[in-house]
Amino acid sequence: MKQQLLEGVVYQIWPRSFKDGNGDGIGDLKGIIEKLDYLADLGITTIWLSPIYASPDTDYGYDIRDYYSIHPDFGTMADFDELIRQAKARHIAVVMDLVVSHTSDQHPWFLSAKADPNSPYRNYYFFRQGKAGGPPNNWISLFGGSAWTKAPQPDTYVLTLWTPTQVDLNWTNPAVRQDIYAMMRWWMDKGIAGFRMDAINLIDKHPDFPDKDPHKKGYQFADDLIRSRPLSYDYLAEMNREVLSKYSGLYIGEGILAKPDEVARYSGINENRLDLMFHFDQVFLGNGPLGKYDFRKFYHWTIPQYKETFFRWQLASQAQQFRLGNFLSNHDNGRPVSRFGDDQRYRRESAMALLTNTLTAYGTPFIYQGEEIGMTNFTIDQADWKDYEAINAFSVLQSMMHVPAFVARKIVQHVTRDLSRTPMQWDEGPYAGFSTVKPWMVINPNAPKVNVKVDQGHPQSIHAYVKALIALRQKHEALRSGSLTPILESHPHLLAYTRSTAEETLVILINLAKHPATFKYPEGEGSTLLLSNYPDRGPMMTKMVFAPYEVRILKLGQST
Ligand code: NOJ
Ligand code: CA
Repeated sequence: MKQQLLEGVVYQIWPRSFKDGNGDGIGDLKGIIEKLDYLADLGITTIWLSPIYASPDTDYGYDIRDYYSIHPDFGTMADFDELIRQAKARHIAVVMDLVVSHTSDQHPWFLSAKADPNSPYRNYYFFRQGKAGGPPNNWISLFGGSAWTKAPQPDTYVLTLWTPTQVDLNWTNPAVRQDIYAMMRWWMDKGIAGFRMDAINLIDKHPDFPDKDPHKKGYQFADDLIRSRPLSYDYLAEMNREVLSKYSGLYIGEGILAKPDEVARYSGINENRLDLMFHFDQVFLGNGPLGKYDFRKFYHWTIPQYKETFFRWQLASQAQQFRLGNFLSNHDNGRPVSRFGDDQRYRRESAMALLTNTLTAYGTPFIYQGEEIGMTNFTIDQADWKDYEAINAFSVLQSMMHVPAFVARKIVQHVTRDLSRTPMQWDEGPYAGFSTVKPWMVINPNAPKVNVKVDQGHPQSIHAYVKALIALRQKHEALRSGSLTPILESHPHLLAYTRSTAEETLVILINLAKHPATFKYPEGEGSTLLLSNYPDRGPMMTKMVFAPYEVRILKLGQST
């Protein structure tokens, strides 16, 4: 079972914007059930649901009020059970988001802890005394501003590394860990197939909460004081013993700013912690040193940087024997075709090129809703912004970084998470087939031409290509588990590698540039073409000129 999950293809659903099943403008569980056939047809074997638990939604579900109930916007527990049943009938596994680095400040644990310093839940969180009239230390929140939020008691603060309403859980308290493990067992017993664990490498904080770089002015990113600290490995080993190892599930960790050596311990195949980790180096290309809203590099990236990042992780994953979840798209990042491809002239070709990379890399591939039809970024009017991160960044950029409002607005529009959270485009209808009423969030104006229905009517569509690519992956073990070796490594535009088992070698050639790429690859002569995103470009020769974003997947030798 685990092996099947590891070798499958995961599709991430951000439920609020996937499909509205009851006509209130908000995506929901009924809507997901309606689309299971669509996902099964694409070849998806696992869906990961971003949080569907009860939540006040300051961070759209990543602030959980009750781990045991379904957000009424999404439906009921009966709907959820039905989803599991219907998914199983289609051999689709359901992975839930697990957000246990923090709870909402509306969680009963926190309500009790906050009101009463003697509450048994006080030690579920980090309450600390202030320092010199301010917060206990100089740590910055990952969304900007102090990482501490005022508690009702005098000169008392509580740690909130994300929004001020997301209160960090104190994992040093064994009662916290046991409550979390019990909750995880409860969901696994319901028949889910695993968890994607939010910010899981941040669960251990430096016990003394020292200032980070005290000589520097202003709030500082605590980095090594909160990230991949020693006990985080112990806690996950314990979680594995007490929960994960009792089921044959898929356990995926979000590795915030993680480095290969850390990931090797979290998802190393012999480490008995998690199965897969995400790293963010690929999607962070072009960001400044302080992250997404740091525009000092103007989001400029190069193909050699893309290749270097990709190969560095791929080679580390094989050499150090850990597993990666490969992705270019999720609910926290803009659309890959707009960031790394050309969403105008070569939208089709470049979306296919990028998806080829994700689906042929070593590890488990993740597709995010809409990626399979090449959904794009667009300029979202400020009045339509929904995301806390964006709204907060707009003011932090002005107040702390002295950026004029019109520039701050442009930066936010360029990188906001809202770009990936607009409703899924199902057809050319009035609300893109997402809902029968005006949706909770603005729809991309290109929906009449970029949508599932249009793609399903064209054999040469992105959707058709993804389907063929997934089928190819299922057919060739080399694509699922074969070793990956870079080729033509110093080529400035071509991303190329082989995937091999003892039986076969497949070659993946991807032109990542919007202009032709010339190269020599004599080994390709006489190979069999398995898949391409261009029709009829002639056979492989020693010297080749690939068209913009051209992809070919070859099998060396004759027969398929
Ligand atoms: C990472 C999640 O992917 C993001 O959406 C969320 O805001 C933070 N963790 C906090 O939960
Ligand atoms: Ca709904």
